[in-house]
Amino acid sequence: MFGLLATIVLAAATVFQAQAALPANCDRNATVVAGDICDGISAKYNVSTYQLATVNSGVIDANCDNLQVGEVICLGLTGQDCMTTYVVQSGDTCTSIADAYSIPQSTLLTNNPNVNSNCTNLYPNEVLCVSSQIYV
Ligand SMILES: *[C@@H]1O[C@H](CO)[C@@H](O)[C@H](O)[C@H]1NC(C)=O
Ligand SMILES: *[C@@H]1O[C@H](CO)[C@@H](O)[C@H](O)[C@H]1NC(C)=O
Ligand SMILES: *[C@@H]1O[C@H](CO)[C@@H](O)[C@H](O)[C@H]1NC(C)=O
Repeated sequence: MFGLLATIVLAAATVFQAQAALPANCDRNATVVAGDICDGISAKYNVSTYQLATVNSGVIDANCDNLQVGEVICLGLTGQDCMTTYVVQSGDTCTSIADAYSIPQSTLLTNNPNVNSNCTNLYPNEVLCVSSQIYV
């Protein structure tokens, strides 16, 4: 009897814990499925690498190696949710990406603070916000 009760309380606590992590002003969310990696989630849902990490700081660790299947994560916060994104390909530069979306390179850098000012740290499959609007 106590064992069953304890199991139910534990299960309820686990569900609560997974959902309690979402910020109150979460604009959209996703449930982690088997095989997900952060940049894969970003590409699938049009969320920049920076935004996914920032919105889930304290939930998803810096190396993104603590995702749990079934976990609900927030994708963007209301009013700060860039949904115009681009998945970096080998050979891309900030200039080529900014030109392709007709945005100033400064806008690209402002919206993606994880990209250094010389744009020397882009990597394939990184997801960038390529909106002309400033979100960050
Ligand atoms: C996730 O978003 C859906 C609607 O898009 C909402 O119904 C649901 O409550 C959200 N989940 C959480 C845990 O907030
Ligand atoms: C992501 O963006 C692409 C390109 O604009 C679009 O075709 C696709 O429908 C978007 N996907 C989602 C999940 O919003
Ligand atoms: C960026 O360029 C500046 C000036 O050219 C240089 O001093 C700096 O080390 C570079 N930074 C990176 C991260 O490449």
